[in-house]
Amino acid sequence: MPFSRQNVPRTKIFLASGIVASVFVILLSLRGVMNSTLSSPSIANIHVDHQPSSISNLHAEQYTPAPPHVDDIFSSAETVESKDYHDWNARTLRDLYSCISMKNCGKNQQKIALLASHWFEEAVVRGWRGGEGIWGMSIYKNLRLMGYTTLFANSFEEALEQYRLFPDLVKVVIRNRAGECHENPHCVKGPMNPRGIPAWKIFDFEFFPSVGGHPYATPLGGKWILSANPDPRFIAEEDSPLQYIGYSIEEDCQKIPVVRLYHRSNQVWMLMKQIKYVYDDRFTWNRSYFSMAAQELEMNFVGGWMLDQHYLGWDPKTQGDMPDIADPGHGVINFGPLSMDDFMAHVGLSKAMVGVGNPFWSPSPYNALCQGVPFINPIINWKKDEPWNKSHWHTQHPSLNQFEPPFIPQHMTELAVRERLKRLMETDWKELAASLLEQRVQEVKSGKKVYIFEL
Ligand SMILES: *[C@@H]1O[C@H](CO)[C@@H](O)[C@H](O)[C@H]1NC(C)=O
Ligand SMILES: *[C@@H]1O[C@H](CO)[C@@H](O)[C@H](O)[C@H]1NC(C)=O
Repeated sequence: MPFSRQNVPRTKIFLASGIVASVFVILLSLRGVMNSTLSSPSIANIHVDHQPSSISNLHAEQYTPAPPHVDDIFSSAETVESKDYHDWNARTLRDLYSCISMKNCGKNQQKIALLASHWFEEAVVRGWRGGEGIWGMSIYKNLRLMGYTTLFANSFEEALEQYRLFPDLVKVVIRNRAGECHENPHCVKGPMNPRGIPAWKIFDFEFFPSVGGHPYATPLGGKWILSANPDPRFIAEEDSPLQYIGYSIEEDCQKIPVVRLYHRSNQVWMLMKQIKYVYDDRFTWNRSYFSMAAQELEMNFVGGWMLDQHYLGWDPKTQGDMPDIADPGHGVINFGPLSMDDFMAHVGLSKAMVGVGNPFWSPSPYNALCQGVPFINPIINWKKDEPWNKSHWHTQHPSLNQFEPPFIPQHMTELAVRERLKRLMETDWKELAASLLEQRVQEVKSGKKVYIFEL
C-alpha cells in the first residue's frame, strides 16, 4: 500500500523508495550521468538512449535590433540591467519601428505576443522564480529565441493601449483572469468597441491544467486556456481540450554540474519555502516525523523556509500560531530564504528531495531530478483496493505519476516548448474561433445561454 498518514516514518520512507525509483532517472539521461552518479546497479544498468541535447539545436532566428545611430539618441537607462519593464518595452518598440521603416525585420519580428500577466515582467525583468515565473520566463525566452516581438503589460488597460498601436501585428494577448476582458465592453472588441482586442486573440494564462473552473476563466474555453502542466487526464496532448504550453528547465539545468552521490552531504531536502506548508490541509506527514526520521536514518532534513504567519491567508488569531519545526539538535535544519542559485546548489548536494503535499505542481522537483536528486512525490489519495493503479493517484506533482525509469520527458525540452509556442503564434485562431462562434450561435437559437463574441 502506498504511504498513509498513519504509517511510521521508516515504513513511509521504505514505501516512498518505490516512488523514488520510478522518478529517479528522469532527466538524468539528458545529462549522461547515469553511470557516474548512481550507486544502485538495478537502476544504473538500465539502458538509456543518450539524446543529443536540444539546446545545441537552438539557433536564434533573425531579429533586427535598431541600428546604433538610432540607439544613440535614446536614454542609456533602457539597458538590459533596467528593473523596469517599460524600459524593455521601449527598446523592443524601437527595434520594431526601425526594422519596419528600414524593411529589414526578422522573419517573426512583426508578430507580437503581448505578455500581459504581471508574472512575466516579474520573472524576466526582476528575477522572480515562483511557478508562474518559471513558466513566464520559459515562454519569453523561447519566443525571443524564435525572433518574435514581445511586450510586457501589467493590466488589460495597458495591453489594450499596446494592441491599438499594432492591431494587425499582435497575434496573442496572454493574461490570467482573461474573462475580465471579455466581460468589459471597453476591453474586448464588440459593436461599441471596434478597436478593442478581438476575443480570439485573448489567451488565459493558467498554471494548473484547469478546464475553466478558475476565477474569471476565458468564456471561450478550450485551447484559449494555456497551461503550464500537461492535462493529466490525457496521454496525448492533442486529446486535451486545453492548450499545454509548459516550460523547460533544460538550459538552466545544463549549466549546473551534477554532484556525485559520493560527494553529497548526508541530507534530504525538504521542499517547502514557507512554514505554512506543514500546517495546511494537504500536509502529508506528521510534523514530528522529520526529526524522528533524521535520527533513524542518520541524515539531516534540511530546507530553506520562511516563517510568515500570514502566508496564503493564514490567520494566526483564529487558526493559531505556526511554530517552527526546525530542530538543529535533532537534524532538522532551516537555512532560511535562499537565492535561486543557492537553492539549486543545496538541492544538488542532497540525496533526495521530499515533498510535503504542497505546493501543488511546483516546478522544483524538476530542478532536483535534473541534478540527479530523486523526488519523493507524496501520494495524498489513492484507490483503497487498487493502491498501485496510478490513474487513481492524487499526488503533489501529478505530472510525475506516469513516469517509469528510464524516462526522458520529451515534452519538457526547450525545443518542445518552442514547437508549442510556434503553434500558438502561427495558428489561425480566427478561423477556429469562427467555427466556435457558429456553434454558439446555434446554441443560442436553441435557447442556451452562452458567450457570444465578435470576430
Ligand atoms: C503525530 O505525532 C504525534 C507525536 O508523535 C502523535 O501524538 C500524533 O498522533 C501523530 N499524528 C498522526 C496523524 O500520526
Ligand atoms: C486503473 O484504473 C483505471 C480507471 O478506473 C482503469 O481503466 C484501468 O483498467 C485500471 N488499471 C489496471 C491495471 O487495473
